[in-house]
Amino acid sequence: MKYKTKSITIQAVSTWKLKQREMVCQKIQNKNGTILELFAGKGILTEKLYKNYCKTNIMIEKENYVELDRFKNDDRYKIFFKSNTDYIKNDLDQLDDLTLVDFDAFGTPIPTIKSFFEKFQVKKPFFLCLTDGNVIKIRYEYQNKERLLDIFQRMGYVTEYKKLNSFLLMQKWLILTLKKIAKEHNFNVEKINMMNNQSKGAGSTIYMGFEVKP
Ligand SMILES: C[S@@+](CC[C@H](N)C(=O)[O-])C[C@H]1O[C@@H](n2cnc3c(N)ncnc32)[C@H](O)[C@@H]1O
Repeated sequence: MKYKTKSITIQAVSTWKLKQREMVCQKIQNKNGTILELFAGKGILTEKLYKNYCKTNIMIEKENYVELDRFKNDDRYKIFFKSNTDYIKNDLDQLDDLTLVDFDAFGTPIPTIKSFFEKFQVKKPFFLCLTDGNVIKIRYEYQNKERLLDIFQRMGYVTEYKKLNSFLLMQKWLILTLKKIAKEHNFNVEKINMMNNQSKGAGSTIYMGFEVKP
């Protein structure tokens, strides 16, 4: 699916992701805050959704996509063309007006979420959205125990691989992992919603929203 902005045609994001993110955005009360996207991509979520729910968009993307040019000369968008790890380590400030942080990863967002909370202190409530596409890899590699264990190790899983073979269990694992991170850093996290992509190619990619509170 494609849609047009002023001058360029850009690819639309998955309907399920957009719907899931939109449900979370509708809960944002302060529309003059900051939304931080740590996997900004080509700015599709920014354009379609996030720009309508905040005053400042901070966008982190390691690729210098031409589609991001349209945000460059507008003060409300702050774009960092670098890895999110580098951004978190060197540029992330304590954003007092943060209303939502988005981790729209291709694979697992967990290492980035962990790094984020190692640096950022939760002093006020905000929303957190994530995408986890790793369940697809898990399904493809299900027969290959060694490969699976390798994937899980890199994701930081401690549980047995057999327990993670469906997106439902994976969602459960994501909630438990977020709760564990929250406990380590002394904040609270509650799940708001979850959806999975039901298309053929990206089937079972997980989209989730959480509320983070001190
Ligand atoms: C699923 S896409 C994000 C789509 C985006 N939310 C949008 O609406 O256009 C994931 C993006 O994360 C970027 N990415 C992957 N690893 C990254 C990293 N470590 N730091 C910053 N960006 C990264 C990729 O280049 C890719 O554009």
